[in-house]
Amino acid sequence: MSSVNLQTLIEHKRNGRKFAMLTAYDASFANLVSSAGVEVILVGDSLGMVLQGESSTLPVTVEHMAYHTQSVTKGNQGALIMSDLPFMSYSNVDQALENAAELMRAGAHMVKLEGGRAMAETVSKLTEMGVPVCVHLGLTPQSVNVLGGYKVQGREQTAALQMLEDARILEEAGAAILLLECVPTLLAEEITENSKVPVVGIGAGPHTDAQVLVLHDMLGITPGKKPKFVKDFMQGSSSVVEAVENYVSAVRDGSYPAPEHSFE
Ligand code: KIV
Repeated sequence: MSSVNLQTLIEHKRNGRKFAMLTAYDASFANLVSSAGVEVILVGDSLGMVLQGESSTLPVTVEHMAYHTQSVTKGNQGALIMSDLPFMSYSNVDQALENAAELMRAGAHMVKLEGGRAMAETVSKLTEMGVPVCVHLGLTPQSVNVLGGYKVQGREQTAALQMLEDARILEEAGAAILLLECVPTLLAEEITENSKVPVVGIGAGPHTDAQVLVLHDMLGITPGKKPKFVKDFMQGSSSVVEAVENYVSAVRDGSYPAPEHSFE
């Protein structure tokens, strides 16, 4: 695969071609998923849960993220690498710039941060300084203690209107990608239709421009009850590579997520 960049993703959106994003945290899996056709690798702070065994993403540090980003860079075969700014590493603009620089030096092509319109100034400044930003809306796991748990967001009309407006403001501030987690299908569809930038979904229904999953979830190796939106792609696949290839095809042809993986 030739190298994927933001322009590639914007063209995919324009042409109605869905693309696949998956987490990876090391060189071997970065090689495997990018060779299998995944366009965007997310070095997610979910590594706190799936690699470190923590019960949330809150203990993850910039140092952890830079270490795993560097490893992913070594194995990557042309995917765009997005790295999470972890909890409390972007609580003001200067801190965000310093920590984003750390992740970009480690090999990230862009960063992801969580939050609504309050992040507009930070997004604008990072973009101005050469750091493309993905903004994570809906269920934002770093705010689990404020949200009162891992719950679907934007079900009530006021919250839905607020998310639509957040998406508009953040895109205007320069967000290069929006990511919606655990959002009702119709709201995600409306945000996707109203955005010029690609919108990635996880538990946000089939109408977003792309899908993302945590690698360990889609390989069926995360212990405990799997969230509604997760599909175990190892079932029906004879190898990990085949499972990832099946995920990529299912995202591209729109067969994943199915209604049973979505919130109405
Ligand atoms: O950290 C992560 O893996 C994420 C995904 C759940 C989108 O943010």
